[in-house]
Amino acid sequence: MSNHSDPKNSADSHDAHKVTASAKRELPDPTEGNQSLPPALLLVFAGIICFAGVYLGIYHGGFQGAVFNESESTPDLLSSRKPGAATSAQAPVELSLVEQGKAIYSNCQPCHQASGLGIAGQFPTIVGTEYVIGSEKRLIAILLKGLGGPIKVAGATYNGAMPAWEKALSDRKIAAVASYVRATWGNNAPEISEAKVAALKKQLADRSAPWTEAELLAIPADAAIEGAAEAQGVKGAGAEAGVSTAPKGAAASVDIEAGKAQYMAICVACHQPTGLGLFPVFPPLVNSEYVKGSPERMAAIVLNGVMGPIIVDGKPYNNMMPAQGAVLTDTKISQVVSYVRSAFGEGASPVTVEQVAEARKKYGSRPTGWTEAELKAFPE
Ligand code: HEC
Ligand code: HEC
Repeated sequence: MSNHSDPKNSADSHDAHKVTASAKRELPDPTEGNQSLPPALLLVFAGIICFAGVYLGIYHGGFQGAVFNESESTPDLLSSRKPGAATSAQAPVELSLVEQGKAIYSNCQPCHQASGLGIAGQFPTIVGTEYVIGSEKRLIAILLKGLGGPIKVAGATYNGAMPAWEKALSDRKIAAVASYVRATWGNNAPEISEAKVAALKKQLADRSAPWTEAELLAIPADAAIEGAAEAQGVKGAGAEAGVSTAPKGAAASVDIEAGKAQYMAICVACHQPTGLGLFPVFPPLVNSEYVKGSPERMAAIVLNGVMGPIIVDGKPYNNMMPAQGAVLTDTKISQVVSYVRSAFGEGASPVTVEQVAEARKKYGSRPTGWTEAELKAFPE
C-alpha cells in the first residue's frame, strides 16, 4: 500500500504491474470473418418491424388521401377498398355541402348558438332572416368580409361585429357553412357552390373592410355572381365576361393572387407578412398614406425605391428601399402593388399595367430612389 501511495518508491516494479494489468484488460485481437448479430438486437429490430406492420395495417386508410380529409372522409371510404370499385363507390358517398357545413358551423355557434337563434341584444338570429335565405351574393359577401355597425335583423337592432372568414375558411368551407345555415332550422334555401364563393372572393379582392347594413341592402336580392362559370373551368368566356361587365375593369384584370405571391417572395423580407414592417428599420405598409394614396406614386415607389428620412404612420425611418424596376415587369409590379393596396391599404383601388407602364415611361430613367419630399409632391 505504501508503495502505491508513494510513486517515487520502487517505481520499476510498480510500472511492471501496471503494464500486465492493462494487458489483461485488453480485448482479444480482432479476427476476420462474419459474426451473427447479438440476439437481443435482432429481437429489437423484429419488434420494430412488427409494430410498423401492425400500425400500417390498422391505419393505412385504404391508402386513400381523402380518408384523412376532414370534409370528405366517411367510413364508407375506408371499407370500399377494392381498387376497381374505389372510384365508382367514392362519388356517391362524398358528403353533401350541407353535411360538411354542419361541422364548420362550430365556428359560428359561440355567437349564433346551436339553435341559430343567437342571443337577444348581442348576436342576431340566422333563422329565416333575409340575409341568410335571401340573395346568395349577400350571404357569401357577409361570410367573406364580416359585418359591422348597426343592423336590423328580425325586427331587432344589433350593433356588433361579425368577423370575416375569408382568411380562416377555404372557399369550400365557406360554401359548406353557407349551404348548411340555408338548409337548417327550417331554413329552406338552395345550396351555394364553391365556385360562386371563389368568384365573389375574386371580385371583392380589393375590399378588406367589413360590410355595413346599407351596403348589404344595396346588393339586389336576385344579384347574380359574375365569373362563377370561369371558376368552374370555362376559362375563355368567364375571363371576357369579367372584363366587360365589371364596373371597374381594372379590378377584374389585375391578378391579386399573383400579386400576393410576388409580395411573399420580394417585399416580405422587409415589410413582413403582416405589412407592419419592423420599426425602426422597415416602415409599415399598413396605415401608410403612400400605400392608400396615388396609384402612380405607389408604382413609382416600387420602380425606383425610396431613400433618406421618411415618416410613415407617425414614426421616423431613415433607410433605403432598393429599386425593383429592373427585376420586375410592369405586369408584376401592377400585381404586387394592387395586392399591397388591397391587403394593407384599406381596399385602395388596384393599379393597372397601363398605369405602371406610364410611370415607367416618366421615371424609369431616374438613377436614385425617391425622397420623402418628392413623394409628397406627387399629385394625389
Ligand atoms: C364573434 C361572434 C360571431 C361569430 C363567430 C359569427 N357571427 Fe355572424 N354575426 C355576428 C354579429 C354580432 C352580427 C351582427 C353584426 C352587426 O351588428 O353589424 C352577425 C351577423 C350575421 C349575419 C347577418 C345577420 C343575420 O342574422 O342574418 C349572418 C348571415 C351571419 N352573421 C352568419 C354567420 C355565420 C354563418 C357564421 C359562421 C361562419 C358567423 N355568422 C359567425 C357575430 C358572429
Ligand atoms: C430590402 C428591403 C425592402 C424590400 C425588399 C422592399 N422594401 Fe419597401 N421599403 C423599404 C425601406 C427601408 C423603406 C423606407 C425607405 C426610407 O427610409 O427612406 C421602404 C418604403 C416603402 C414604401 C413607402 C413607405 C411606406 O411604408 O409606405 C412602400 C409603399 C414600399 N416600401 C413598398 C414596397 C413593396 C410593394 C415592395 C415589394 C415589391 C417593397 N417595398 C420591397 C425596404 C424594402
